Amino acid sequence: MAIPEVLAGRGRFPRTRMRRNRRAPWSRALVAETRLSVLDLIWPIFVIEGENRREPVPSMPGVDRLSSDLVADAVAEAVGLGIQAIALFPYVEPELKTPEGDEAVNADNLVCRTIRRIKAAYPGLGVICDVALDPFSSHGHDGVCRDGKVVNDESVAILCRQAVVQAEAGCDIVAPSDMMDGRVGAIRDALDQAGCADTQIMAYAAKFASAFYGPFRDAIGSSGALVGDKKTYQMDPANALEALREVALDIEEGADMVIVKPGMPYLDIIQRVKASFGVPTFAYNVSGEYAMLRAAADRDWIDYPRALLESLLAFKRAGADGILTYAALDAARLLKEG
Ligand code: PBG
Repeated sequence: MAIPEVLAGRGRFPRTRMRRNRRAPWSRALVAETRLSVLDLIWPIFVIEGENRREPVPSMPGVDRLSSDLVADAVAEAVGLGIQAIALFPYVEPELKTPEGDEAVNADNLVCRTIRRIKAAYPGLGVICDVALDPFSSHGHDGVCRDGKVVNDESVAILCRQAVVQAEAGCDIVAPSDMMDGRVGAIRDALDQAGCADTQIMAYAAKFASAFYGPFRDAIGSSGALVGDKKTYQMDPANALEALREVALDIEEGADMVIVKPGMPYLDIIQRVKASFGVPTFAYNVSGEYAMLRAAADRDWIDYPRALLESLLAFKRAGADGILTYAALDAARLLKEG
């Protein structure tokens, strides 16, 4: 749609002065096109076994792995700040990892126990869990390997069982992050058959094979183990049209919401997904993005609060309905302070 010349102000200087609306805070607030709110934030948390355990993740300054009792304390703070949803990621002890990620389908595994604990204390908080085998597999892949290949259909069958144990433990949203073909539809059917028709699916629909996941893999202890790379299932960063096809498939298969991941280098994908499908679209501001911001901030090379809020606002401007970010608590505090 062409903007009428009178609005665009072309050739009308000095009658049209774009700076007039910017001259005072109240005026800038009136004309702001996008707003960031605490309601947009999803906080990912790393969970470890034990009680009263806190382990800093070296590549993610300010982020700790927490035992589930400390997760409960941290969640109390998040809820107090107005955060509506968290995402749980387990650090699985190496001796529990197997080639087929058996622990993923154990209804009493660390994730399921933590879900129960959190939902008992905070029934009104949205709890999201990844569906993928990488925290549980000895080779660090999201699915099962046969002859050095990550096999699709056999992996999907296991992922369905993983989604069901999480849903039965009380998880509100399962988030398949594995990028196997057909998994969203299969998980939807499995959830429905298990009586979990209300469990939502937030599909990592457009997930790219990215270097920005490095710190996350440290955090869940899968980086040392990872054999090869994930390029046979995660997407090529060169592709945008393929991302739209992935999103279309996941919606058709029953996804309630979709994720684009990583976040900042993929704002064009977020914008196109939202414009093309109009579905609830979430950005994952991933570990490497967080690490870069923190690394620069810790050297006083960048103003962390301003750079953080600007980054998160940019996701909203691109069309995201919400953002998964490790800086959720920092952002919530900053928003509260105004
Ligand atoms: C696992 C998973 C990954 C992330 C979320 N779920 C890593 C990967 O695919 O290797 C990355 C999150 C981050 O970097 O913050 N399927």
